[in-house]
Amino acid sequence: MKVAFIGTGSMGSLLIEAFLRSGALYPHNLHVSNRSKSKAEMLALRHPGLHVAASNAEAALGSDIVFICVKPHHFPEVIAEIRSVLLETQLLISITSPVLISVLEEQVPAKIAKIIPSITHSVHSGASLCIYGERVQPEDRLLLEQLMSSISRPTPIKESETRIASDISSCGPAFVSFIVQQWAKAAAQMTGISMPEALSLSAEMLLGTGRLLTEGGLTPEQLQRRVAVPGGVTAEGLAILEERLEGVFLSLIEATQRKHEADLAKLAALFDAVKPAANSSVSPDHGDLESDRPEML
Ligand SMILES: NC(=O)c1ccc[n+]([C@@H]2O[C@H](COP(=O)([O-])OP(=O)(O)OC[C@H]3O[C@@H](n4cnc5c(N)ncnc54)[C@H](OP(=O)(O)O)[C@@H]3O)[C@@H](O)[C@H]2O)c1
Repeated sequence: MKVAFIGTGSMGSLLIEAFLRSGALYPHNLHVSNRSKSKAEMLALRHPGLHVAASNAEAALGSDIVFICVKPHHFPEVIAEIRSVLLETQLLISITSPVLISVLEEQVPAKIAKIIPSITHSVHSGASLCIYGERVQPEDRLLLEQLMSSISRPTPIKESETRIASDISSCGPAFVSFIVQQWAKAAAQMTGISMPEALSLSAEMLLGTGRLLTEGGLTPEQLQRRVAVPGGVTAEGLAILEERLEGVFLSLIEATQRKHEADLAKLAALFDAVKPAANSSVSPDHGDLESDRPEML
């Protein structure tokens, strides 16, 4: 199997490293490209056999799966570069939520899916959100979910749920670690405990809590009832959280929603600028890759 990664920044390289560590992919399976080539070359140095392509189109050409791991505003230029080499049989995967499947289906003939990963995949955990376009067949889903299950828990969702689901699974590690950091800071300030000790205890607690809520089969309410005996210390702490956190998560969701809508509007304008010409179909053309490449944005 040939798998392309276009963009080997933070998430692209995290996915590559995680797949290689899991044994789901071998370096010779991987064809990667990145705007600044040195980042891709570093990966090849660490993983002999991994192929660094001279261009995005070269990476995509003939790959069974093409992961696009660039920021949303770079998508239109990447799509414009690889459009001419893509075939109906290839799977094109966006790892970013604001890029709509319908927009990609208008642009290229490939089968389109979105897989929204999480930083937690670097330790082979967390949910990967899987959203499939109409061209994706059951066997394609199986292939993608088998691949993702080597580093995560693949979770099929509707495209309309992508934004809020990725708030939780992809942004969540940053939000929760912020809370842990604030808590440890307060603990260090108010008591003799050192910050590293408080952070280490919090991290272990978080890991155990996650396991109780997944494999332990407890709901958050059950977990709270089990720990907070009436009149005890935990109940006092929960009362503070209930009072002070009221409305915080509504504001958080409002803020991320606003940003998402702004990103969608900007992206629609960028994709409009690189739309295939009205008289050209989105069927592939395997002519000279360089001369076929449309103007970059
Ligand atoms: N980080 C997360 O936790 C997370 C979670 C879920 C989804 N995502 C999604 O993952 C995507 C990438 O995020 P990231 O954190 O990995 O960003 P990043 O570290 O900035 O990586 C993006 C990479 O894309 C490369 N790039 C830009 N334009 C390109 C082009 N035309 N051709 C080839 N490569 C190009 C950049 O190259 P240079 O080296 O030249 O800058 C950079 O290495 C985003 O869309 C984000 O929404 C991220």
